[in-house]
Amino acid sequence: MSFLMNFFTFLVKVLTLPVQLIEAVGLYGIYKRVFPFLMYRVSATYNKKMHDKKRDLFSSLPEFNKPGGGPLNILEIGCGTGTNFPFYPSGCKITCTDPNPHFQKFLQKSVADNDHLTFERFVVASGEDMGSIEDESVDAVVSTLVLCTVNNVSQTLREAHRILRPGGAFYFMEHVLADPSSWTYFFQHVLQPAWYYFGDGCVLTRATWEDLEAAGFSEIKLRHIEAPLTFMIKPHIIGYAIK
Ligand SMILES: C[S@@+](CC[C@H](N)C(=O)[O-])C[C@H]1O[C@@H](n2cnc3c(N)ncnc32)[C@H](O)[C@@H]1O
Ligand SMILES: *[C@@H]1O[C@H](CO)[C@@H](O)[C@H](O)[C@H]1NC(C)=O
Repeated sequence: MSFLMNFFTFLVKVLTLPVQLIEAVGLYGIYKRVFPFLMYRVSATYNKKMHDKKRDLFSSLPEFNKPGGGPLNILEIGCGTGTNFPFYPSGCKITCTDPNPHFQKFLQKSVADNDHLTFERFVVASGEDMGSIEDESVDAVVSTLVLCTVNNVSQTLREAHRILRPGGAFYFMEHVLADPSSWTYFFQHVLQPAWYYFGDGCVLTRATWEDLEAAGFSEIKLRHIEAPLTFMIKPHIIGYAIK
């Protein structure tokens, strides 16, 4: 099984040689402009299929409002098109970060469509380094389909933990590595070399729950589910971790 898997993974890698060449000569940057259009469509479909799960997950956000009152402060990392805004409680304040500035146009549209929340600002930054956001300054940090793409998951979680106030929560909904005895696991590995380029650096084979467990949160509510999506991204983890 493992020999077959490595063989087919190698084949797919060979097939991606032209794309690797495009990256080597520095032309892959063009895809950073195209990807937001793709993500705009993909996230609409994702939201339809995951609607109830997102609604249930984010319904607990108000519990993390500061004891003294005031609006709930949310920081979203890798915000993309602002696809989670409809699920946030009325009156909350949102700051967004994403390393790709070409998402801004879509983000603005989502801001206009969701006037139940107050949009603070969009910061062009990667999850690993959000230095312009103060320590312990937000009640909740949100990451959906982002930990699959960041360069360093533990560094990103360290940043999220730094920015959260004590008692605040890190919300996540992420596709993850499948059970090693499954065909999904096999195909996640075989297709990874191609998926990486078309998914803007997305990795199918991350055991992200392990990084979450090691990130120093005091309590983690985490569920493994099979999402109603394409088989490679069916295995999901959903939940929140409290600082
Ligand atoms: C699959 S999209 C998900 C977008 C959005 N969160 C959603 O749920 O639709 C992945 C996002 O992660 C962003 N991203 C890529 N590298 C990142 C990094 N190092 N830190 C934070 N976000 C990153 C991408 O620009 C993109 O917006
Ligand atoms: C990822 O970040 C962690 C925490 O900051 C660091 O210890 C580790 O060396 C980083 N890993 C890589 C591959 O850069």
